[in-house]
Amino acid sequence: MTPVDLIVVGAGPFGLIAAHTWLELNPNDDVLLLESAADLGGVWSKSRMHPIIKTQAPLGMFEFPCYPMEKLPKDKTFHNYFPGSHVTAYLEDFATHKAFSRKTLKDRIVFNSHVKHIIKTDKLWTISITLDTSFTCEKLIIATGLTSTPNLPSFPKDDFSPPVIHTRSLAANIPLLNSPSINDVVVIGGSKSAFDAVQILHSLNKTVKWIIRTSGQGPAFLAAPNAPWPLHSSHDIISMRLVAKMSPCIYEPVDNWSRICHGNKVGIRIVDAIWWFVDWTWRRVANFDRDENMKGLKPGRPLCLSADGLAVSNSEGLWDNVANATVLRDEVESAEGKDLILKSGKRVTCDAVIAATGWSNTYPMFDNALATELELPLPFQTPQEDGKAVAEWETLLAEADKKVVETFPRLANLPTYPHPEPKSTPNKLFRSIIPISGDIDHSIAFVGAIGSAQSLNVAEIQALWAAAYLSKKLTLPTVEKMKQEVALATAWRKRRYLEDGYNVIFEHVQYMSLLLRDLGLNDQRKGGGWRELLEPYVSADFKGILDEWRRLHDLL
Ligand SMILES: Cc1cc2nc3c(=O)[nH]c(=O)nc-3n(C[C@H](O)[C@H](O)[C@H](O)COP(=O)(O)OP(=O)(O)OC[C@H]3O[C@@H](n4cnc5c(N)ncnc54)[C@H](O)[C@@H]3O)c2cc1C
Ligand SMILES: NC(=O)c1ccc[n+]([C@@H]2O[C@H](COP(=O)([O-])OP(=O)(O)OC[C@H]3O[C@@H](n4cnc5c(N)ncnc54)[C@H](OP(=O)(O)O)[C@@H]3O)[C@@H](O)[C@H]2O)c1
Repeated sequence: MTPVDLIVVGAGPFGLIAAHTWLELNPNDDVLLLESAADLGGVWSKSRMHPIIKTQAPLGMFEFPCYPMEKLPKDKTFHNYFPGSHVTAYLEDFATHKAFSRKTLKDRIVFNSHVKHIIKTDKLWTISITLDTSFTCEKLIIATGLTSTPNLPSFPKDDFSPPVIHTRSLAANIPLLNSPSINDVVVIGGSKSAFDAVQILHSLNKTVKWIIRTSGQGPAFLAAPNAPWPLHSSHDIISMRLVAKMSPCIYEPVDNWSRICHGNKVGIRIVDAIWWFVDWTWRRVANFDRDENMKGLKPGRPLCLSADGLAVSNSEGLWDNVANATVLRDEVESAEGKDLILKSGKRVTCDAVIAATGWSNTYPMFDNALATELELPLPFQTPQEDGKAVAEWETLLAEADKKVVETFPRLANLPTYPHPEPKSTPNKLFRSIIPISGDIDHSIAFVGAIGSAQSLNVAEIQALWAAAYLSKKLTLPTVEKMKQEVALATAWRKRRYLEDGYNVIFEHVQYMSLLLRDLGLNDQRKGGGWRELLEPYVSADFKGILDEWRRLHDLL
């Protein structure tokens, strides 16, 4: 096939807005999106949607700033958190609302096209779907999401007959789970998908045993949905710059606020007390001490150290619902017949297993050599880079760690908590978007490689950042400086969140600000004064960033 100008792999929110942004800037370009599934929207696609799924960001904070979402009446929301099906409809509308060269985004999606292999020859990327179907392009954006590839538990199964269903395919399996032959269901995992699975199973009148291992992060920390007046929801709290300042964060230069909050003993004590208070209020809502069973759902970590395990109790009656499951703080070691055999020796008989066991965040479409060159995460068992590169990285990391501790003394001695071995090596993309030295002709970018609590805002800002980079209109620091920044982000994450997760929850305001500053745009978008500190950031605050950037580059 003739090479196209741009291919975007993945038609979830990040892929859709990335393609849209590119087309806004280059309306005559030939742009394709390759999508594994038969529908668009990724996590929010019709085929993955089930009635329990609600957003974890409220109305007004979970929409592309350039495309406002239709508001819903109060009785259709829960403290402003709203049904996932509304996001499904929104993304469908977004993909068809505008045509570029008479083609909408949806017209450009090649569905049922799972990308298996990507290589680069000369100046072109070749993207293979099957042995005889491939596409070539000059520019490539990877938007395959952090929650696309299931991580399945790998215990030995001897003639184990019940189906093991990952939460990715929960919606598709509801008819099977609803069948009368399935009564006892086991849910494995402690994070938000497990909470959702338990609620769905109860709505189908199933008996649920819920197994959460003790060697990892434990049960998710679920924030209460509401917040004190004048705020509307708990999300408002973490979307204020003042609260963001209370997290030790390397995404912005040290200013007076960071010195006050993190640079002296009094500030550290006050900030700790605030975190403790919010932690206490949110735990109180769950009433974990109501019985022995519920005690097993106490969050594994304090609020301020929960990132990948932080979620919102975003549906009515959630705690009373999950209290009906039998919680076992144990681990599956093997399975035979209809029994799961646990580490404690206990046997649990079941008709089905729901694996709410998370995701793999590697990029299997790149072979190891290319993935290493592009500085992508690799599964831990993969042979590592050459010794020289490893030594260079270790030195950078050690220097970065020193800087993190000097800047934020509180991170020097955090308490320890159990955490699982990371499944992959760290993602070394600069700003979590581009390879530092493996892409000299600016032809590839990765969007959606960082998780956040305002992912549609992050998606639009990343899309512009990626388009600016691919158009060679982004001024980048030197390679040396970029390496230092990536090492700093990695060292910070290791200390701040005690492992290598990928979410920025308390720091999403700073991460978005950082990208805007890189683009030369105003990142203080609340009009200054108290508003900048206390008014929660919403999607509308980022409206118009594309035109602002165009103006800066005389493209309007
Ligand atoms: C159940 C659930 C609920 C969530 N709720 C929230 C929330 O409330 N708020 C929030 O901010 N975030 C939430 N998240 C995080 C979620 O990742 C983001 O909301 C958002 O969907 C990320 O968009 P994305 O485009 O990066 O990834 P996705 O939505 O996962 O889309 C990626 C797309 O890439 C496709 N793809 C993957 N691999 C390939 C391949 N090899 N070839 C072709 N196509 C491929 C997938 O089929 C998918 O369509 C949730 C995640 C889950 C799993
Ligand atoms: N909008 C919503 O309401 C909603 C719903 C669902 C998910 N989400 C979001 O989607 C993202 C992904 O959430 P997720 O819950 O799907 O995945 P996740 O956060 O990655 O959690 C995976 C869970 O599986 C456990 N696990 C992994 N491997 C295991 C094994 N081998 N045996 C036993 N347990 C194992 C982990 O425990 P360890 O700590 O022990 O490893 C963890 O509890 C999060 O950001 C979440 O907030 C949002």
